Amino acid sequence: MGFIWWILGIIHILPLFIIDSNPLIYGLTPQSPIQCNQTICTLKNSYGTWNDRKTCYALNVTYPTTEQQLRLAVSYVVQNNLKAKIVTKFSHTIPTLSCPQQNKNQAFFISTEKYDSEIQIDATNLTVTVDSGVKLRQLIDEVEKNGFSLVSAPYWEGVTIGGVISTGAHGSSWWGKGGAFHDYVLGINIVVPGSKSEGYAKILKLDKHDPLFNAAKVSLGVLGAISKVKLSIEHRFKRSITFNFTDDNNIENEYIEHAKKYEFADITWYPSRHTAVYRYDFRVPLDTSGDGVYDFIGFQANNILISESVRGAEKLLENLGNTNGKCLTASTTLAFKKLTANGLKNNGLIFTGYPVIGYQGKLQTSGSCLYSSKIDTSCAWDPRIKGLFFYESTAIFPASKFGNFIQDVKKLRDINPQNFCGIDNYNGIMIRYIKASEAYLGQSEDSIVIDFNYYRANDQFTPRLNQDVWEEVEQIAFFKYGAKPHWAKNRNLAFINVKNKYPKFNLFIDAKNKMDPQNVFSGDWSDEILYGKELVKFDGCALEGQCICSEDRHCSPQKGYYCNYGLVYKDARVCRKLSTFVNTDSLQ
Ligand SMILES: Cc1cc2nc3c(=O)[nH]c(=O)nc-3n(C[C@H](O)[C@H](O)[C@H](O)COP(=O)(O)OP(=O)(O)OC[C@H]3O[C@@H](n4cnc5c(N)ncnc54)[C@H](O)[C@@H]3O)c2cc1C
Ligand SMILES: *[C@@H]1O[C@H](CO)[C@@H](O)[C@H](O)[C@H]1NC(C)=O
Ligand SMILES: *[C@@H]1O[C@H](CO)[C@@H](O)[C@H](O)[C@H]1NC(C)=O
Ligand SMILES: *[C@@H]1O[C@H](CO)[C@@H](O)[C@H](O)[C@H]1NC(C)=O
Ligand SMILES: *[C@@H]1O[C@H](CO)[C@@H](O)[C@H](O)[C@H]1NC(C)=O
Repeated sequence: MGFIWWILGIIHILPLFIIDSNPLIYGLTPQSPIQCNQTICTLKNSYGTWNDRKTCYALNVTYPTTEQQLRLAVSYVVQNNLKAKIVTKFSHTIPTLSCPQQNKNQAFFISTEKYDSEIQIDATNLTVTVDSGVKLRQLIDEVEKNGFSLVSAPYWEGVTIGGVISTGAHGSSWWGKGGAFHDYVLGINIVVPGSKSEGYAKILKLDKHDPLFNAAKVSLGVLGAISKVKLSIEHRFKRSITFNFTDDNNIENEYIEHAKKYEFADITWYPSRHTAVYRYDFRVPLDTSGDGVYDFIGFQANNILISESVRGAEKLLENLGNTNGKCLTASTTLAFKKLTANGLKNNGLIFTGYPVIGYQGKLQTSGSCLYSSKIDTSCAWDPRIKGLFFYESTAIFPASKFGNFIQDVKKLRDINPQNFCGIDNYNGIMIRYIKASEAYLGQSEDSIVIDFNYYRANDQFTPRLNQDVWEEVEQIAFFKYGAKPHWAKNRNLAFINVKNKYPKFNLFIDAKNKMDPQNVFSGDWSDEILYGKELVKFDGCALEGQCICSEDRHCSPQKGYYCNYGLVYKDARVCRKLSTFVNTDSLQ
């Protein structure tokens, strides 16, 4: 999530910043994630770079348009002893879950890009059944047109229904079934490998009576090819949203009450600014006036030159080690967000004041940069431009432990609040809610999800300003409080030990062994994530979170970054620039 109003800040500090290259491009809509030539197909995610920067290949790709064609594709894979992954039109997942295996000679892609024609609404039973390649926006618009709403969905609409449920993606709520999309799933058709007499592939039709159903709700793509998904819907409704930009004194005491009080609550915390933004968001009667839209500012199309100069400025501040510069932009950014209500628009055009009231379908999910037709604009992170490039860490906490986490982060912040400006330039720490789920790889108890984004260097071995601070926050989350990583985000270290954090992990593996005993849909890439394997450490591996440092060489001693203890969480091991702190005993 990149934030271009940043430029307002940069204008103050970098009046003469020069843009190095500016190709003339028309409104860029995201490119297809799969590119093939005569010999090989390459898959990229939406950022153009996987979290480990490796290249993901397959020999070939197929684009089924019906359930039968999807079955034939799986049959082909089984007959030819290949490894397959389902790929979507968007490929917005950050880890390499969609990569079949590193030995490309056996790898095959099945894309759901053209498998999106069916959206069947059952108005009596309040359900909708969709092809797995249907896009979130396409589905929302169709159900709203017919007088219904999806209750919960991710905030970003550049995703397919198959991708959303496979990774446990979510919005925010503790009411009803809660914020996780997969908890609205009533049925799943999934194509799995079959015997010769079954034609090498068969369609399983799962619902709540089937023991495999709770495995299939969140399956990371390793059980088979999801063909159709049946979801529950409600009659169309409206919401009222107010953002309260206030101080952050009480987050740890208020986060539970906040979610109980407001159906679509969330909190965005800007630690360096001592600011918390509480979202007061609830249903209102359908006849309440208002046709508001939430066109979230980070998902709007941006002028390409601006995206590139923001990136250039961020890079320059990194190279200069200029924390003050980052704080200046963080402060301007926050002021601009307050002024524009993060992209809420009362009448669809402009923000005129709170509350913003409108239909669910226009307030829950956004992503206008996906359709930009304006010349020279794109999503700020489009890999074809030299735009934003960042990490996204996402940790899911049992609700009861979250207050202590906030207190620890506050202690770390209070050592030097400026150290947090780097994340506050993005979206600070975004706090959302999901409820306990039956899904084996969902949350077993009511939970809190945090996301924070931060600068990623162009080069894998370039250390980053204040990286020790983000590393410590990550390790406090994942190891001190046992938070779980969002399956679709994060750097590799977040997955260490993940399987021991899910009480029903073994039930998931049992289901996987039943549905795909030959591991057609599993390979070394997805195994790394699912089983949280710690990789062999190498020089510089901690710089991009591919390991936790235990020796200086895992950081960058040449550039002054040594492996050190955490400042608040002493068990953390982070790469810290030696001159930054007084107490900097290196580990060796
Ligand atoms: C800008 C941005 C904002 C985001 N915001 C949110 C948010 O608000 N909340 C949130 O939870 N997440 C968010 N995400 C993460 C996003 O929701 C997930 O990455 C989502 O899974 C991506 O869906 P996709 O259709 O691109 O799936 P892909 O990335 O293409 O696939 C994800 C996984 O699902 C598997 N898969 C996909 N379709 C099928 C199928 N039919 N059968 C079997 N397996 C399948 C793939 O093999 C892969 O393993 C965001 C990501 C970005 C880039
Ligand atoms: C196909 O693409 C691969 C990967 O980018 C490249 O190595 C190879 O040379 C290309 N082959 C042809 C024939 O263009
Ligand atoms: C790729 O797969 C398609 C079927 O989807 C097939 O027709 C084509 O021959 C394959 N190409 C190669 C090079 O294997
Ligand atoms: C509603 O569901 C019931 C039971 O699943 C089913 O028999 C009925 O046909 C459904 N109604 C419609 C209109 O499809
Ligand atoms: C915003 O939050 C503060 C602190 O909780 C509270 O005092 C204030 O009344 C709130 N403002 C609105 C408009 O609700």
